[in-house]
Amino acid sequence: MCGIVGYIGEKQAYPILIDALKRLEYRGYDSSGVSIIDQQKPEMVIRKSQGKIIHLEELIKSHPLPPSTIGICHTRWATHGMPNNVNAHPHKDCSGKIVVVHNGIIENYEELKNALLKKGHTFLSQTDTEVVAHLVEEHYQGDIFKAVQKTVKQLKGAFALGILCLDDPKTLIAARVGSPLIIGIGKNENFIASDVPAILQHTKKVIYLKEGELAKIQKDKVQIFDFNGKAVSFKVDKVTLKVDTVQKQGYPHFMLKEIHEQPHVLTQMFRHCLKPKAVSLDEIGLSDKQLKDMTQIFIVACGTAYHAGMVGKYLIELLAGIPVAIDVSSEFRYRTPIIGKKTLVLAISQSGETADTLAAIKEAKAKGAKIVSICNVVGSSLARISDGVLYTHAGPEIGVASTKAYTAQLGVLYLLAIKLGLAHKTLSPKNASLLMKDLKQIPSLYARILKDKHTIERIAEQNAHFGCFLFLGRNINYPSALEGALKLKEISYIPAEGYAAGEMKHGPIALIDEYRAVICLAPESDLYEKMISNIQEIRSRKGKVIALATEGDAIIHAHADHVIYVPKTNKLLTPLLMALPLQMIAYYIAVKRGCDVDQPRNLAKSVTVE
Ligand code: F6R
Repeated sequence: MCGIVGYIGEKQAYPILIDALKRLEYRGYDSSGVSIIDQQKPEMVIRKSQGKIIHLEELIKSHPLPPSTIGICHTRWATHGMPNNVNAHPHKDCSGKIVVVHNGIIENYEELKNALLKKGHTFLSQTDTEVVAHLVEEHYQGDIFKAVQKTVKQLKGAFALGILCLDDPKTLIAARVGSPLIIGIGKNENFIASDVPAILQHTKKVIYLKEGELAKIQKDKVQIFDFNGKAVSFKVDKVTLKVDTVQKQGYPHFMLKEIHEQPHVLTQMFRHCLKPKAVSLDEIGLSDKQLKDMTQIFIVACGTAYHAGMVGKYLIELLAGIPVAIDVSSEFRYRTPIIGKKTLVLAISQSGETADTLAAIKEAKAKGAKIVSICNVVGSSLARISDGVLYTHAGPEIGVASTKAYTAQLGVLYLLAIKLGLAHKTLSPKNASLLMKDLKQIPSLYARILKDKHTIERIAEQNAHFGCFLFLGRNINYPSALEGALKLKEISYIPAEGYAAGEMKHGPIALIDEYRAVICLAPESDLYEKMISNIQEIRSRKGKVIALATEGDAIIHAHADHVIYVPKTNKLLTPLLMALPLQMIAYYIAVKRGCDVDQPRNLAKSVTVE
């Protein structure tokens, strides 16, 4: 949420900044801004614009920036104050010498603002961020670093900050609590950014700034300190990401590209983790004995990751016989879950930076639970505070709607459930082998679904006019229904509800008439007949039925208006297969309705605020 980039070096800062900022646009896109130091005059120059980054570029074309080799910029996801020019970052102090970009929320900003107003500071925006600029000004006595150090000690909440001061045009300052920030190390140039893809074409050497750290960055020197001003040692990591993984590679949208990457992601995962008679999860951080001793599992996650966790609950309870409780992170953190030393808490998060999930984990850790996270972003905050990490290795997910990260999370959950089943001896080696064999087939089944994407596209387009969708599933595909509905609503803005099909009669059936479409997940399963009964109930009330069924099912055509077939597989694995057509239905409906698929309104990837 919100993207920050900063540059200091020998090249012109603006082209580097704007290019890097565009790579962070998935983090927020309601307004953006840039600030550079005009070293000739000298003067601090700011340009800001409401809307997407392209509007900022247009503004700068008509109002060019002077040459400069130092600058910071920001793309915003509004929390405090409307998305407009005034509230866009960077924010400046009264003198106009100090500028700040910020990701996160300053929770005590009102108290600080009132005190600063009393001291005569003038505020222009409604943001929490502007407080930081004025507070730095208040502490500034000729040493910007010291002023920032005093400031960050007064801030409560989450923040990643980039700060410039006109009096010190050779220094860029960065600080972090909660929200992520990295420093990129180049040759005679250094960078700050909210995420690695922003600066990947300039450097692969990065420092992950840790909680409570403050950095003084010059073009050829980086120093890191704690908030008391004590220098701390740091490690420079080499990232292995390739530049082309963060490009569209000919696809019209990142979402479509990421949907197509799913066979590859799962092939790699299963090749690495499925051994002849065992599942290898190297980074789990717990011994087989510790896994065996676990008597309870808690899953915490948000959104799509929560839906993956729901599938995980079905799997682990079935295969390993361990009771699994699941909560959305924002609920878990504010209630009193019963957690003991034999509780394993599984946190699932693509970004590893979701504020609620991080807070939930901290709660669980304090109560003595072991934490294993399922995470996509290497080195993320979640990965760092967990006892073990099961990386999904799905590659950067840029489309705001999660696709490949979801199926990769499912993949890891299947592997974990098998491992736990073997450790607890509730799953026989023979049955584990059969399941593992079936899992290995999933990528080729994905390829078949993708080959037939035009059928899905046609059906999606024919139904794109419906004003409301219901998604029904049962048992292990109940979470698939929730995920299908989430995907559709977030990118097409059509109201969509996911339900356990058995719940239909308890309320949602009132919605059904000829103006509603119902997506019924009816793969081959022990509950297939029950789903057919639900479909009949919908049809007799004139609802349109789109059924997702197993290839070879000849009966379903008599019941549904449209059928999308998925290949036959082990019944337990059907959530992996259902995911693809559901993602594609959402995608093609959103495209047909002219929606901004990769950057849907009001959303942002990586929800780093509560
Ligand atoms: C939906 C979506 C969100 C995320 C949720 C959690 O497509 O992407 O619902 O799943 O914000 O994010 P992570 O997984 O980064 O914790």
